[in-house]
Amino acid sequence: MCGIVGYIGTEQAKDILLNGLERLEYRGYDSAGIALMNATNVEVYKEKGRIAKLRGAVAEEAEGTTGIGHTRWATHGVPSQENAHPHQSTSGRFTLVHNGVIENDQELKEAYLLDVGMKSETDTEVIVQLIEQFASEGLSAETAFRKTLGLLQGSYAIGLLDKEAPERILVAKQKSPLLIGLSSHGNVVASDAMATLALTDQYVEMMDGEVVILTKGEVNISALDGTPVSRAPYTAELDATDIEKGTYPHFMLKEIDEQPLVMRRIIQHYQDDAGRLKVDEGVRQAVKLADRLYIVACGTSWHAGLVGKQFLENIAGVPTEVHIASEFSYNRPLLSERPLFVFISQSGETADCRSVLVDVKQLGHSTLTITNSPGSTLSREADHTLLLHAGPEIAVASTKAYTAQIALLSILAVDVAQGKGATLDFDPLKELAIVANAMEVLCDEKDDYEQMARDYLSDTRNAFFIGRAVDYYVVMEAALKLKEISYIQAEGFAAGELKHGTIALIEDGTPVFGLISQPHVAGHLRGNLQEVAARGAHTCTIVTHDLATTNDAHVLPEVHPHYSPLASVVPFQLLAYYAALHRGCDVDKPRNLAKSVTVE
Ligand code: AGP
Ligand code: GLU
Repeated sequence: MCGIVGYIGTEQAKDILLNGLERLEYRGYDSAGIALMNATNVEVYKEKGRIAKLRGAVAEEAEGTTGIGHTRWATHGVPSQENAHPHQSTSGRFTLVHNGVIENDQELKEAYLLDVGMKSETDTEVIVQLIEQFASEGLSAETAFRKTLGLLQGSYAIGLLDKEAPERILVAKQKSPLLIGLSSHGNVVASDAMATLALTDQYVEMMDGEVVILTKGEVNISALDGTPVSRAPYTAELDATDIEKGTYPHFMLKEIDEQPLVMRRIIQHYQDDAGRLKVDEGVRQAVKLADRLYIVACGTSWHAGLVGKQFLENIAGVPTEVHIASEFSYNRPLLSERPLFVFISQSGETADCRSVLVDVKQLGHSTLTITNSPGSTLSREADHTLLLHAGPEIAVASTKAYTAQIALLSILAVDVAQGKGATLDFDPLKELAIVANAMEVLCDEKDDYEQMARDYLSDTRNAFFIGRAVDYYVVMEAALKLKEISYIQAEGFAAGELKHGTIALIEDGTPVFGLISQPHVAGHLRGNLQEVAARGAHTCTIVTHDLATTNDAHVLPEVHPHYSPLASVVPFQLLAYYAALHRGCDVDKPRNLAKSVTVE
């Protein structure tokens, strides 16, 4: 994962780098560092922990109109100052930042660097030491860089400074994201356009296997073998205010509150002039040609995929399987004759998904990416893309992207059903609008969910969420939300499965949240709640209005049962938020996690 930002121009680089890294901190926050270069020297500052700490450590008078910076999500070696990037070669000539994983670092060390004393435990240091090794054997820095890249296996986005050539930054990428940005006073390189939005909205894409020589006035792109590449810039359609917290204490709360707006935006984007919900023709044809859909995703996006399967099978009659990306590669199911692979990824950069995408493309299969990030790797590389239009999601815990993914999958299902000439027994446009209103009502009930977090989760070490049918998928998401930000051990269970083993964990006071939104399983779910209550559980029933009894305290506004996950997840998002807040956790940047998981 990690975030990289680099600048070469006429302005001082220090604040450009630090501000850019702050924007990229969602990608990893184990340590941070910058290197500033001027005509005679390179100064490196690095700290374990957050950018704010690094900011405090960078000398007031630190100068340089060229520099590179990094915020780390450790893969090799503990989070520490020694392992923080930038890393320098032994002589100090080369300074490098890297995002990704070098899989053959040990082999390269043994083959080329036996005499070199390593200063860190990272795979990254091998890269910079190799460049120095080859340069010391007489190669130019650029040739040494290209030769080193040719030896690396794994993933990388790299920025390299050479003390002997202060007029340029060498840049390369393989599998990890990296973009070049153009500004009136210099050029930038960044893992994500968000980092440098204050400087420019003009960006140039970089493809795998390319090398860029960046000077203050030029962007020179070439293939690894040196063949020149020309590529026009594009305008990044990001609004700088979207990436500010505004008056909210946390991005997560802001993003939860944005969900009604996102629903309405999606309806708007996918509505034709006749007021029908539609996806674009290419996607419709791809689904039509397929005999089976294979949804591939991770984490929250996988949970959205599980709900999506219900839509695609129940509304559109399209057989659909849902797979965890990291399992699919190594445990591939028997594929149908004409599969369509649907990758769901908020970031569009998740390495586990990309690895499946690369494999299935090689097999010649058709691919679609559903993402929030236009121009992301998964979007560029799939045959088709559907965009979520949810606006940047900054909090590590995904909220509005999850509901946007579900809404979009429902629109896909509706479009496919309509394309088959099916008559729907509900009005999808109207029902989605009702969902947006219901979300608004739920967002206004924050106090109730804050109280629920106090009542049930203030000192518990574990919690269970149970549901049946589609509610089961929602409670899996509820549990993931709670555990990732509050660190409470939480599990989402199919309610009927509890008695087959897990009920053994229920003891006096164990919180068990039961979700009831599906009429055909409501009675069973109430029965399951009673079973755990009889064993001492502290039960909480969250139920839709149409299924509520007079004793139910937490009643959700009624939405069409197809769309219930869109509304019923909101209380759980708020519950997780307040539980984390009460426990003093870092809500937006939970420990050990990163927003964009670009390692397999
Ligand atoms: C969500 O709260 C998680 N942080 C995580 O599970 C996430 O959904 C997963 O890593 C997939 O990310 P993606 O949607 O960007 O591919
Ligand atoms: N593998 C490198 C490290 O552990 C880079 C990790 C990252 O992408 O942040 O330092």
